[in-house]
Amino acid sequence: MRFTVKSERPDAVKTGCVILGVFERRKLSEAAGDFDKATHGLLTDLMKRGDMDGKCGQTVLVHFPRGAGCERVLLVGCGKQSDFNDKRYREAVVNAANAMNGSGAKDAVSYLAELNLKNRDIYWKTRHLVETTHSAIFTTGGLKSEKDKTGRHLRGMDINTPASEAATALKAIRDGMAIAAGVELARTLGNLPANICTPSYLAEQAQKLGKDYNKVKVTVLDEAGMKKLGMGALLSVARGSREPARLISMEYGGGHKSAKPVVLVGKGVTFDSGGISIKPASAMDEMKFDMCGAASVLGVIKVCAELQLPLNVVGVIPTTENLPDGNASKPGDIVTSMSGRTIEVLNTDAEGRLILCDALTYCKKFDPEVVIDIATLTGACVIALGNHAAGLLGNDDELSRLLLSAGEYAGDRAWTLPLWDDYQPQLDSNFADMANVGGREAGTITAACFLSRFAGDYHWAHLDIAGVAWKQGKEKGATGRPVPLLTQFLLDRCAHSA
Ligand code: BES
Ligand code: MN
Ligand code: ZN
Repeated sequence: MRFTVKSERPDAVKTGCVILGVFERRKLSEAAGDFDKATHGLLTDLMKRGDMDGKCGQTVLVHFPRGAGCERVLLVGCGKQSDFNDKRYREAVVNAANAMNGSGAKDAVSYLAELNLKNRDIYWKTRHLVETTHSAIFTTGGLKSEKDKTGRHLRGMDINTPASEAATALKAIRDGMAIAAGVELARTLGNLPANICTPSYLAEQAQKLGKDYNKVKVTVLDEAGMKKLGMGALLSVARGSREPARLISMEYGGGHKSAKPVVLVGKGVTFDSGGISIKPASAMDEMKFDMCGAASVLGVIKVCAELQLPLNVVGVIPTTENLPDGNASKPGDIVTSMSGRTIEVLNTDAEGRLILCDALTYCKKFDPEVVIDIATLTGACVIALGNHAAGLLGNDDELSRLLLSAGEYAGDRAWTLPLWDDYQPQLDSNFADMANVGGREAGTITAACFLSRFAGDYHWAHLDIAGVAWKQGKEKGATGRPVPLLTQFLLDRCAHSA
């Protein structure tokens, strides 16, 4: 989908569809008011007849509006003007995209970015319009034998902005398109089934990024390479699988040679059955999404390369399946991590931390400025925060603060949980340096406590994305989160160093 900027009157513009906002109750936005005047009260008539009140979720499509240059006009309800906020704005944009998608319009001009939104400028509104529209028209059905033939005609959208702000809006479109592409990559990979999206497949995808962008250097370690480095924790998870594990590194070099990189570590469990501590059957298919952390890292590296960000960013992905087998790890097994510390595997379903701990130790070779890991790590995080916020824990308050505010701006929020020492004793083991589980209580925190023991050498943050990485039910599918949060964090860093 193409986006551009325009500065034209809504009644004069020639397009398949003009998109206008209406507030509750029957209150036309500025652009809608202009359109109404030029069409001798067409919209006022429509509201009088009760077709549009301005409620959230309402849309009305009118064909061949008299006296206007467009083929259609789409009115989008935005709710009460006094309640209009980031969330309502994005909802209006989604509703507009869905209504457009079902129509025959090939192109459209949206006037939604001109709506007044507290504390948000044209850059924010334009970028979110692009990201949200792109996301709304994304389809998952890549593996259906019958391709979706309905709608999907929309090829381009112009975003109307005052002429004086066109340059800012263009920049926002560029950024928004790149983020949308990163989100799309993460969603596509997340949605792929585990029989296609294997550890080797993820490695191929990384190598493809390396081919597509000359600033991305990719290296892939196989199991022999990991064994040489002593990655006994990662390899213990891979034992039960016939698919060989991989450790992928993607080095994006957009910054000065001597600048220390931001290192992103993504959990890449391409299927998590639980191993010998096997999971219940219901909804186990969703454990194909257990590589969404890895997918988000691939997505972010793509955004960095697309935008040529002046930073160094490294993506590290430990990837394996977690399956039961005669050769699989058993509860009580003790393994030795790359750091030299021993781990008693009390529950083979707590496999994410086992692969991440070796990846975190491995990160040292990149001499990181900060390390952020991203993982669908605990069901407990879904219980704590639901599907709205990622769990955020770490050893550096300043880093956490930056991630929180990046998430707020990007509409991809995280929320902090405490990483107090008080929780550490839950990981005590009678037989090894630590256990891999800390009991039922505070499961998200004890998982982070485990990781913190391998991240002590750097500024580190952990995002538990178990609740936000995919949707369940009718809309089942990967969300691409937290690509927007992480990208914003990197954009903010560029702005500060510039
Ligand atoms: N991948 C799961 C976490 C998960 C579960 C994410 C459900 C989303 C929905 C992880 O590997 C896991 O199984 N964690 C266990 C840890 C427990 C054994 C300490 C969990 O959360 O039950
Ligand atoms: Mn598990
Ligand atoms: Zn898992």
